[in-house]
Amino acid sequence: MLRRVLLYLSEHGGFQRWVPPQLARRFIAGDTLEDALLACERVNHDGITATLDYLGEHVRNLEEAAKCRDAYVRTLEAILERGVKSNVSLKLTQFGIELSDEKCAENVSALLKIAAPAGNFVRIDMESSAYTDRTLRIVETLHHQFGACGTVIQAYLRRSAADIERLCAAGIRVRLCKGAYLEPPTVAFEHKSEVDRNYLELARVLLARGNYPAIATHDQAIINALIAHCRRESIAPERFEFQMLYGIRRDLQRKLVAEGYRLRLYIPYGEAWYPYFMRRLAERPANVLFLVRNLIRS
Ligand code: FDA
Repeated sequence: MLRRVLLYLSEHGGFQRWVPPQLARRFIAGDTLEDALLACERVNHDGITATLDYLGEHVRNLEEAAKCRDAYVRTLEAILERGVKSNVSLKLTQFGIELSDEKCAENVSALLKIAAPAGNFVRIDMESSAYTDRTLRIVETLHHQFGACGTVIQAYLRRSAADIERLCAAGIRVRLCKGAYLEPPTVAFEHKSEVDRNYLELARVLLARGNYPAIATHDQAIINALIAHCRRESIAPERFEFQMLYGIRRDLQRKLVAEGYRLRLYIPYGEAWYPYFMRRLAERPANVLFLVRNLIRS
């Protein structure tokens, strides 16, 4: 119930004025590209790669979409110039998908023209199920044209097994996550046990047939089960990577790296932190207590 309220608030900005921006800092590298690059250098130093996310979603017009595209161009160029080990992750509602599929794809192409020749990579995040079909269509087209891009599949969606088969057949790289949006029970599993079971099943498919899959979770039970699965099936650690979010389970991050697994951290930066922050609160009730305590204090 609390999760659903927080996800509802994440989609409706009214609550933002009650949240002190410094609280979001736990999950966000900072406001500027320089903050993100410094965070990136810090994690690279610990043997962790990164993916940078310039925060923003649901732009209102194509000028805003073009500004986001340009911010990502600067991010990719800075990654290449500074030589940090990072790629980028973006959301199609930030690139104009609600206004024009064609323009949105053009905006992403601008990044792929830089990423592909440089051997870098653009991950297209998955948003709510209203965008799944259109996101997959755009990813398939761009992958065919440029390579160098992949997407995300959410284990809470009932459709995901079929989508994974389709992406594996096309050789498109998949990040598997549980899913972070408010969805009706007709499209998404409601209970954690069902989502976790589906996650494990989908991860095994990706580890067997996927192109360098990304196992994106902080769920230690799932991670342990998949490590055991890889040992049994002789799947080498270089064939996949774990991914986690900046500011979450640093203990587990260190453990995986120490054990020789590849780990990439999703590092968000920018001023549009509110929906991202609210989704992180929704994932863990203890985070809400932390927010309430800070609101009472201030
Ligand atoms: P789960 O929620 O069961 O948490 C397992 C444990 O992890 C918790 O017990 C707790 O210890 C810790 N934990 C999890 N979330 C926490 C939090 N917010 N604060 C503190 N501790 C926390 N979603 C999506 O819909 N589209 C996308 O494109 C992406 N992209 C993405 C990239 C990467 C790299 C990651 C790691 C995740 C995403 N997600 C996402 C988010 C994902 O769908 C999911 O909401 C979160 O990862 C939380 O789920 P877990 O798998 O960690 O499991």
